[in-house]
Amino acid sequence: MANVTVIGAQWGDEGKGKIVDWLASRADVVVRFQGGHNAGHTLVVGNQTYKLSLLPSGIVRGTLSVIGNGVVLDPWALKSEVEKLTAQGVSITPETLQIADTCPLILPFHRDLDALREDASGQGKIGTTRRGIGPAYEDKVGRRAIRVCDLAHLGQLGPQLDRLCAHHNALRAGFGEPPIDRAGLEAELAEIADFVLQFARPVWLRLNAAKAKGERILFEGAQGVLLDVDHGTYPFVTSSNTIAGTAAGGTGLGPSAAGFVLGIAKAYTTRVGAGPFPTELEDAIGERLGERGREFGTVTGRKRRCGWFDAVLVRQSCAVSGVTGIALTKLDVLDGLDQIAICTGYRLRGETLNHFPAHAADQASVEPIYETIEGWQESTAGARSWAELPASAIKYIRRIEELIQCPVALVSTSPEREDTILVRDPFAN
Ligand code: GDP
Ligand code: IMO
Ligand code: MG
Repeated sequence: MANVTVIGAQWGDEGKGKIVDWLASRADVVVRFQGGHNAGHTLVVGNQTYKLSLLPSGIVRGTLSVIGNGVVLDPWALKSEVEKLTAQGVSITPETLQIADTCPLILPFHRDLDALREDASGQGKIGTTRRGIGPAYEDKVGRRAIRVCDLAHLGQLGPQLDRLCAHHNALRAGFGEPPIDRAGLEAELAEIADFVLQFARPVWLRLNAAKAKGERILFEGAQGVLLDVDHGTYPFVTSSNTIAGTAAGGTGLGPSAAGFVLGIAKAYTTRVGAGPFPTELEDAIGERLGERGREFGTVTGRKRRCGWFDAVLVRQSCAVSGVTGIALTKLDVLDGLDQIAICTGYRLRGETLNHFPAHAADQASVEPIYETIEGWQESTAGARSWAELPASAIKYIRRIEELIQCPVALVSTSPEREDTILVRDPFAN
């Protein structure tokens, strides 16, 4: 099995985009299988920086890039991202980009509802990206969604629009908003339809053919396991399953397709948005990590919260997602620290825990148990081989492997594509 599934092992922004771009040179197809344009994946190639939200990160290398049925697709966001990347010199054609004809659409009223609900939620705010992700997934499961294939049959939208309007107009009335402008929506869809339809395909057919031919498929997860709607820090999560298992259902390939599951983890921890974060550092070290790591959200520009590496959480992420190996990113951000702490367990009401409890209040009250190890003063930035790493950095990586019970397959030492240390080739396993 030559496939690789990349997923985030923390709260997102672990550096998945960089690693997927790096691995894409060895892949025949790159496939997104969940999430939407809430994702923000940054790729640095020479002096060019590419920021992708909806498009698979393989697109920059010209690798066939597929958006699977598990993604929620905002047609207008798609168009502007395609235009932005085309202006940067990336070739995006129906030969390089294919979109599942069964993808549910994110529509303007989904965005409205996301923002209206957040604004009305007081202390209960999730801190979403306000891009309509949650409301679009709700409509998919509620069997009200308009999908990509519907764009080729706009004259037959009546019953779906009846269902959508019945649901959303009741909600909108509650928020003091006018009902959905049906004719306006139909006109907007008619205007964007051809743009989306040029890429629309039954992608499961292409992917199954790729599998039969033994082509290498690289699945690109968005968000991270701690934002998974089942396994994450509920309710402070996104509205999709972000674990590797979703690669099958979100594309139309069987569960054996996932192959090597590569969990991406930062050498420390960040989170953007609300929710529990046991190892968060609200001090000078947290500020330092944020500055050195340039921890500002790609999508919303929000400052990311920073803290020490939490081995309990990453161990749990690896277990629930069946991670085969880890890519440890942003090691260089830790350069120059005297001491580095790793969370190895929690204390809750006098007891020691080796896992993250399920209840939000318990998650907010656990106290991390730390082990400290010596830092390193040398620079690891740009290292491309194990031999270039200081002994203390190697010791740190080895300790993480022990604690998370999972081997490190790659180490990343800068935003640049080639500044990557290969320990074990995920495609060779
Ligand atoms: P993603 O959402 O998982 O793809 O991650 P993001 O792109 O949102 O955030 C990761 C950020 O860290 C981006 O700005 C990357 O360019 C940058 N990055 C990735 N790997 C490294 C690394 O090893 N070192 C440093 N310093 N930056 C990195
Ligand atoms: P990438 O793929 C980090 C967070 C939001 C919020 C929660 C729910 O770049 O790692 P949503 O808009 O999805 O309903 O927001 O999830 N979130 C992310 N955080 N990286 C992401 O994606 C994220 N996508 C969503 O900040 O807390
Ligand atoms: Mg990101």
